[in-house]
Amino acid sequence: MRVFYALPFLNLFSVCLTQDINNAVASGTVSQIPSALPTPVDPSWRHNRTRQRKHVHDFFKLFGWLRHNDTIKDHDFPAAIRRIQRILHEPETGEYDEKMEVVMSRPRCGTIQPFNATDARMPDGGTLRKRYVLWGPKWNSATVTYRFLNYTSDIAADLQRETLRKAFAQWNQYLPISIVPASDNIPRADIHVRFMTMGPDEPAYAFTNMIADGLTMSSGLINITFNDYYTWADDRLFSFTALHEIGHALGLSHSKVEDAVMWPYFEGIVRPMHPDDKAAIHSLYGWKEPRWNRIDMNTATKNIAQVSSFADSPSALDGLYQLRSTGQVLFYSSSGTWVTVDNNRDTVQISGAGGNLYQRHADGSIYRYSGSGTQWQYIGAPSDNVADIVAASDQIYQRRKDGWIARWTGSGTQWTTIEQPRSSKQIAVTDNRTIWNLLTTGDLVRSEWPYGVGWTVVDINSANTQIAVGGDEFYKLEGSKVVWLDTSIYMWVIIENAGSVYIYAAGDYLYSRHYDGSTWRYTGTPMVWEMLDNSQNIASVIGDRSGNVWELKGGGDILRLVS
Ligand SMILES: *[C@@H]1O[C@H](CO)[C@@H](O)[C@H](O)[C@H]1NC(C)=O
Ligand SMILES: *[C@@H]1O[C@H](CO)[C@@H](O)[C@H](O)[C@H]1NC(C)=O
Ligand SMILES: *[C@@H]1O[C@H](CO)[C@@H](O)[C@H](O)[C@H]1NC(C)=O
Ligand SMILES: *[C@@H]1O[C@H](CO)[C@@H](O)[C@H](O)[C@H]1NC(C)=O
Ligand SMILES: *[C@@H]1O[C@H](CO)[C@@H](O)[C@H](O)[C@H]1NC(C)=O
Ligand SMILES: *[C@@H]1O[C@H](CO)[C@@H](O)[C@H](O)[C@H]1NC(C)=O
Ligand SMILES: [Zn+2]
Repeated sequence: MRVFYALPFLNLFSVCLTQDINNAVASGTVSQIPSALPTPVDPSWRHNRTRQRKHVHDFFKLFGWLRHNDTIKDHDFPAAIRRIQRILHEPETGEYDEKMEVVMSRPRCGTIQPFNATDARMPDGGTLRKRYVLWGPKWNSATVTYRFLNYTSDIAADLQRETLRKAFAQWNQYLPISIVPASDNIPRADIHVRFMTMGPDEPAYAFTNMIADGLTMSSGLINITFNDYYTWADDRLFSFTALHEIGHALGLSHSKVEDAVMWPYFEGIVRPMHPDDKAAIHSLYGWKEPRWNRIDMNTATKNIAQVSSFADSPSALDGLYQLRSTGQVLFYSSSGTWVTVDNNRDTVQISGAGGNLYQRHADGSIYRYSGSGTQWQYIGAPSDNVADIVAASDQIYQRRKDGWIARWTGSGTQWTTIEQPRSSKQIAVTDNRTIWNLLTTGDLVRSEWPYGVGWTVVDINSANTQIAVGGDEFYKLEGSKVVWLDTSIYMWVIIENAGSVYIYAAGDYLYSRHYDGSTWRYTGTPMVWEMLDNSQNIASVIGDRSGNVWELKGGGDILRLVS
């Protein structure tokens, strides 16, 4: 038996008091859970090295990079801070900063990931957005049971049961097992829920501890413990904490994705289940079947495309579109019906990004969807020279047969040309508007916004056959290898060794289609991919920035990934 002690023993956390505990102690009351966004940080953190060191140590322990009783040496401190800044997507200054203080002052989980020496040594630079982490063990039975050992006196017991029931159900909707309350006639449940007062020195709101043999969870030994020092009357924090701790009780560790449920700090809002959480739970337990849901079947369907805006500026046009060989363009509405947004024989291509949908006609003319009915704005004059259009970031580009790339100026039918490399095969544009241009020779050039200084050669390699970008990340298909450009060290990193015939990326997500027809999603760790589908006959796979995925089958069926 390997013993994972995740219980944060109080003596190890002697100096960590969050701001609200300080207040509570000062006024002699038991702390209330913050129900809104946390109060502004106390500026004294800037000069308080003790506080900064404590936060950095806690962060490292939450991710299993530090043994319980270890300390980070002074000369390693800037490197430790840079590592956290990388996870928080901040400039890597090596100086403890305000965002770190804000994040790490928040209510947090007390589940400490088992120390992993490999992980602790490894800077995250080598891996692209390494995401979820697993404990290792999982439940090996078709039904998992849970039971309250006791309740908090803060709210009615039936309310507590209801909150936990809903939280378990949220995970359960993705799992091929079922999680139910233990019936009274069984002596012990698999997972126990309890409330324990941990006193003013313990900043954690809850933790989950486990004793496991590294492969299977041991029934009755997994406890979710809520810190009853806090008042659990706030439904938002209670629900969210329950959801997060159940993730641990099912075998997940902390995620490095800030929007994931398994991120260890709570910023006052109930985060929905993130694709990162789903990928983690699927990798342990597999999928509920069927995994794909057919949303259309029409042999005339020729292509699917999606529009997804940046997270901070969602658009009514976000969603899935299809183009039929009749020229009809349809939008998959939130109510699950297909709505015609155009019906014009001449349409040969649709492309969407940044809240906009565009179409190209056979004569080379280009149109932008107005957002209402079947009205489109005419933005590009007919021309034999237009090869294709690419909507990306907040722009629309056209690739021309004479080799030029042009960009719509945003007014009338005026386009600005950008320099002409010979024989472009494909372009892809990152969120920061860098244009990557794959030439028919396999060579790769790029031009940065506002494209004043021409093209820079990035790669000379006749094996390059396709490129893709997601967010600001760049990928290429080199033979059947998928290769990512790590722009922080400017190195090519092979993330899939063989088998790929097609790659597609959107936001943080990258997909690869194989010779045998199977479709895979990248987990963020080189060589580790999650299989989404192994059926044959997939014509294309696309996804959006929130992790939704759709596929088009050769026969014209459109399917949506269920979870
Ligand atoms: C520094 O921070 C620690 C931990 O947050 C706190 O206990 C201590 O009182 C602070 N010291 C000062 C001088 O503010
Ligand atoms: C850390 O704790 C472990 C067991 O909890 C103990 O064996 C070890 O000696 C401790 N190390 C230090 C440096 O205190
Ligand atoms: C430690 O982390 C590495 C890299 O993430 C992983 O491959 C390995 O399985 C982990 N070891 C344990 C014991 O969890
Ligand atoms: C719940 O049970 C634990 C022991 O498992 C105990 O420490 C704690 O005080 C109990 N809490 C309440 C609210 O009774
Ligand atoms: C979980 O709680 C039960 C009942 O209080 C206890 O017997 C068991 O040892 C606890 N498990 C762990 C890992 O603390
Ligand atoms: C845009 O992102 C790329 C990485 O894909 C990077 O190399 C480039 O420097 C960025 N450009 C700007 C202007 O930030
Ligand atoms: Zn946690």
